[in-house]
Amino acid sequence: MRIPLPVVSALVAAAVCSNVAPMSAQSPIASARAYRFADSVLALMTLDEKLGQLAQTPGRGTPNGPLVPVGGEALIRAGRVGSYLGVFGAEYTHELQRIATQESRLKIPLLFAFDVIHGFRTIYPVPLAQAASFDPVRVEYSARQTAIEATAHGLHWTFAPMVDIARDPRWGRIVEGAGEDPYLGSVMAAAQVRGFQGGANGVNIGANDALLANVKHFAAYGGAEGGRDYNSVELTERTLWETYLPPYEAAVKAGAAFVMSSFNDIGGIPAHSSDWLLQDVLRNRWGFKGVVVSDWGGIGEMVKHRVAATTGEAGILAIRAGVDFDMSDGIYADSLAAAVRAGRLSEAVVDSAVRRVLRIKYALGLFQDPYKFSDVARERRYTLAPEHRAASRIAAREAIVLLKNSNKTLPLRKNLRSIALIGPLADDARSAMGNWPADGRSSETLSVLAGIRAAVGPSVQLIQVRGSPVDTADTTGFAAARTAASQADAVVLVLGEREDMSAEAESRSSIEVPGSQVALARTVLGFAGSKPVVVVLMNGRALAIPELAREAPAIVETWFLGSEHGGAVADVLFGDYNPSGKLPVTFPRVTGQIPIYYNHRSTGRPPDSTKYTSKYNDLPSTPQFPFGYGLSYTTFAYSNLRLSAAKISASDSLTITVDVRNSGDVAGDEVAQLYLRDDVASVAEPVKSLKGFQRISLRPGETRSVTFRIGPSSLALYDRQMRRVVEPGTFTVYAGTNSADVISTQFEVTGPVLVLAPPTPRFH
Ligand code: BGC
Repeated sequence: MRIPLPVVSALVAAAVCSNVAPMSAQSPIASARAYRFADSVLALMTLDEKLGQLAQTPGRGTPNGPLVPVGGEALIRAGRVGSYLGVFGAEYTHELQRIATQESRLKIPLLFAFDVIHGFRTIYPVPLAQAASFDPVRVEYSARQTAIEATAHGLHWTFAPMVDIARDPRWGRIVEGAGEDPYLGSVMAAAQVRGFQGGANGVNIGANDALLANVKHFAAYGGAEGGRDYNSVELTERTLWETYLPPYEAAVKAGAAFVMSSFNDIGGIPAHSSDWLLQDVLRNRWGFKGVVVSDWGGIGEMVKHRVAATTGEAGILAIRAGVDFDMSDGIYADSLAAAVRAGRLSEAVVDSAVRRVLRIKYALGLFQDPYKFSDVARERRYTLAPEHRAASRIAAREAIVLLKNSNKTLPLRKNLRSIALIGPLADDARSAMGNWPADGRSSETLSVLAGIRAAVGPSVQLIQVRGSPVDTADTTGFAAARTAASQADAVVLVLGEREDMSAEAESRSSIEVPGSQVALARTVLGFAGSKPVVVVLMNGRALAIPELAREAPAIVETWFLGSEHGGAVADVLFGDYNPSGKLPVTFPRVTGQIPIYYNHRSTGRPPDSTKYTSKYNDLPSTPQFPFGYGLSYTTFAYSNLRLSAAKISASDSLTITVDVRNSGDVAGDEVAQLYLRDDVASVAEPVKSLKGFQRISLRPGETRSVTFRIGPSSLALYDRQMRRVVEPGTFTVYAGTNSADVISTQFEVTGPVLVLAPPTPRFH
């Protein structure tokens, strides 16, 4: 059937009009106009064109930048592709949009998507490190600048934020999220969505610097058994709702346009076929109006899960469950038309998915101006913009966590005669960028060596020795390391993991520092005598560092900090910045302590010194470093924890105030943390849960009263019927500098149970 062109032009004209309409508080994706527009385009489409809109095809990297695969232009002309993944560049996306909107029958523009996780060309700290800043304003700002850079290169959509809660640091993808805590994870999820999309609720979608956010991986991908990537997830519904789902919900409520389904199954149901997750929870309970995309190959993998005999059947399962876009599989395009024609799939199911995709394209304003993101001048202006690098440096500093500082080893003096810089990661700019560096370049990234060199200037002698490889047992470099350590005035040991030892498909069975690095540290510490030795860790997960924690005088956790890694590390080492980051994950003593997380449930036999309690006989029951832990060059004292009322009703709110004093002698930032415990509840609840935090700056001797306001949602739990309720009884409030080091008080909730939400939809 040929569509008369004037019809399409009229639709496009309608789009033009509506895009000049004033912004409402509602996401443009869900506007009545978007729905009407999608319907009217859908009415013109053949089944093959519809399935074309649901196809997301990967690009291919070439020395001249990413291109569509050979034959890609012909696919666009034929209306057989709705989106490209990993294809960007202002000029190139302009040309592809020209083909789509001038040479295809229906002239539907393309969507360009990419993994822009923590920066596009300017690289910010990896998400786990950003979470360590406990600074959602900074995290939002980093995402905002990232969006500005990425959209200037023609991109519309990023596969971020990744918000999977991870309680097992063996899982390599822990680096991509905010760690173990649902509250911190939710705050960071929402901050990133607002940053990418340029505001809350998607209100700015349609601006040419708003990058569509894609919360992933839905759901509970971080619960992979044994920390092995892509593994099954065994969870109770209670833990799923209490711990794993909140960050996805926060991202959806913040207006994320996309959700990506996860590779794992939960209780035998692969997420790509879970209408419980994608309909009952996501759309019906949370009101999600955007688009669901599969994860790479995730539809076809249902054959290997053995819930589908063929990829065609897998495609039917996925689209029926609510997966709209087929990322990379090509299964929808290859097999769903036949399924519809054979009566095995209703075309109405395809139509619903296509409508959602069309609404997104409409909301972006691409029908009005397909080239609005393909602007060479913006690309030139924003790529690695100086203000982006400067902000990345601030974000990087805030993410650094000081783990140990005996006898004020740090900060180091800048006027030392010589510094030995030892370790396999000391000059590794590639690792400094982290595992999802988008279009970032090592040549534009400061290694620790480069950062220290810039900080101390040419008069300080830097003796750089690798000492050992990262992950093999070789010790041949130890002799040179010993010589360097004995010659220099101070030693900086840069140890940990390369960037490719965390993130996707990078699980490790042991989270100890790999290879011969600990032995290297041992030998260096032995030769350094009384001179200052600082261990700088680079890694993408919690590490177990029992020997370093015992023997090294100072330890600085730096994760992978992006373009300004080395500069930020030098700022901390020489005291130009007083470290203030806090651990977003518990650091176990040894791998065998996993899973260990601060908000574990109350057991019947909490560990103590007696025999029949819950503990290992060969280990203390505490972690090496608890959640929320991080030192400063100053100290902070907490006192006078007080409440606005000793008793409240379940629907009331409560003000909690604590005094925080800088009890040391330098200015510093502190992250004051608030935890709650429901003392007696109808179900066994966590021993404590984070409910608030605030970053404050204090001069030496200064005291600040920090105030938190909590309401019913902070007090709520899922009761035995899985209703969200506030139950009467006492609650303990904890405030402090980390999850273990706290002061506490109590208040009481009186009156009847308050029901905030009906039972969760039944899992099926
Ligand atoms: C990952 C996703 C990513 C996608 C596209 C998958 O393998 O699991 O997180 O967004 O690839 O690169």
